[in-house]
Amino acid sequence: MSDPRAETGGVWPTGVAIGQSWFELGALAWLCGRYEIESFVELGMLEGGLSSILLGRTMFTKDFRYLGIENEMRFLDLRVKAAGDWFERFDLLEADVFEDSTVYYVKFWLGLSEDPSLIYCDNGNKPKELEWYAPILRKGDVIAAHDFGREYHESDLPDLDDLERIESDWLTDTHIIAFEKAGS
Ligand SMILES: C[S@@+](CC[C@H](N)C(=O)[O-])C[C@H]1O[C@@H](n2cnc3c(N)ncnc32)[C@H](O)[C@@H]1O
Repeated sequence: MSDPRAETGGVWPTGVAIGQSWFELGALAWLCGRYEIESFVELGMLEGGLSSILLGRTMFTKDFRYLGIENEMRFLDLRVKAAGDWFERFDLLEADVFEDSTVYYVKFWLGLSEDPSLIYCDNGNKPKELEWYAPILRKGDVIAAHDFGREYHESDLPDLDDLERIESDWLTDTHIIAFEKAGS
């Protein structure tokens, strides 16, 4: 039997176009559960497919919060955009992720909760996002990046010596690389 993914392309669980594969959605859900993530930051939303799934999580998981950042909001699905106006734990920000003020805002937003957070790097320059956002992680926080092994490789990664690489079968068959801020 041929692989249905090769014939049909991606699947869009909520009907909004998404940049994640089915396995990558599983990996992100696993990271949220395993690391008890309450605050999820997505850097680069495009049409909002992943945002729409995480909107569901904000509705059904007590205290789960989402912050999506995008510098080209004109591509964002209008229903996802509207959700940003009416759901209080679902925040959208139109900004360049490589502005100091944006990093400062993400740090402030994370600080509104002491629970673990996950920053998901999915814009045009993932190694640079890892470099800019890893320094604001707190103990127990996680940072992950998409398109590893496709757009960039091990040798392109910044110095992340104070982070622990997350290894899991859930990351197999994905292009996601993930790290935890461990230690004391
Ligand atoms: C690969 S798409 C995101 C896909 C989305 N995460 C998903 O799962 O469907 C990358 C997005 O990052 C945005 N982007 C690129 N550079 C950016 C920057 N410097 N600041 C904010 N967003 C940026 C692009 O406009 C694009 O919408």
